[in-house]
Amino acid sequence: MAIQWFPGHMNKAKKAIADRIKTVDMVIEMLDARLPASSENPLLAQLSKGKPKLKILNKQDLADPERTTIWLNHYNQQAHTQAIALDASEKGATAKITQACRQMMPNRGGLDKPLRVLICGIPNVGKSTLINGMIGKKSAKTGNEPGITKAEQRLFLADDFWLYDTPGMLWPKIIVEESGYNLAASGAVGRNALDEEEVALALLDYLRRHYLILLQNRYSPDKDPSSHWDDVAWLEWIAQKRGARLAGGRVNYQKAAEVILTDFREGAMGRITLETPNQWEQWLKIARKR
Ligand code: G4P
Repeated sequence: MAIQWFPGHMNKAKKAIADRIKTVDMVIEMLDARLPASSENPLLAQLSKGKPKLKILNKQDLADPERTTIWLNHYNQQAHTQAIALDASEKGATAKITQACRQMMPNRGGLDKPLRVLICGIPNVGKSTLINGMIGKKSAKTGNEPGITKAEQRLFLADDFWLYDTPGMLWPKIIVEESGYNLAASGAVGRNALDEEEVALALLDYLRRHYLILLQNRYSPDKDPSSHWDDVAWLEWIAQKRGARLAGGRVNYQKAAEVILTDFREGAMGRITLETPNQWEQWLKIARKR
């Protein structure tokens, strides 16, 4: 899938993160719990090499809990890494994070050795929501279109706990085809940069293979056997169900695509995760062979 990125922004972010990383003790990497691997940026792994890392699987309220556990176990086995799942707007999110960081860095703390932490994440993972919750007011701007938070800010979460927000934009890097679709389905990719029909079909293809029951519950097909439908048949059914028609009764695929994408982003079908560590490994293998 063709996605329009902005290498200029990326280079600025890279330089700013590389500079800041030298002065912090550890890094928090925010990920989307519905697509943890796709929402990682390999550049960050490279820049933060050797620094302890807390991975936050955010939007856990929208993600499949069983798969979240699998991802947490997967990350917790990695060196210098801990992972927690979170809903950025939940009460107590700040305490959860500061506690996890302090546990990871027992030798930092106190006024002479404040714990200095850099928080990073690709647009739309919920960083502004989390930071707003931490400072108790609407200062970081949140919004539907990705890419709003820009300037660096330092937050004093305690006298001896400093949190640096990532300067610049850390865009995702598309390594495998599936991650492009998953990022787009989640809303992490700006609307102008994607073909919603293509994204909706990829999403339906995944859902019919891994979350068929949720699809059936949401769109109650009255035709049998919906279990054999392909992605197009599902999109056409959703169009019919939601009255997405053009003049002359033709199927309005664009409208039907918007329905399924909005339902997924809002969690209307239930809690869904679009990748597992094993699937990710397989996708990587295939991508490397190409
Ligand atoms: P960013 O700074 O990383 O770019 O992300 P931001 O906080 O702007 O969050 C992007 C969207 O994700 C926002 O929704 C926000 O409310 C939502 N969000 C953030 N964290 C969570 C979470 O843990 N769970 C759920 N369910 N949603 C979360 P929006 O529709 O764009 O804006 P709004 O409705 O909050 O105004």
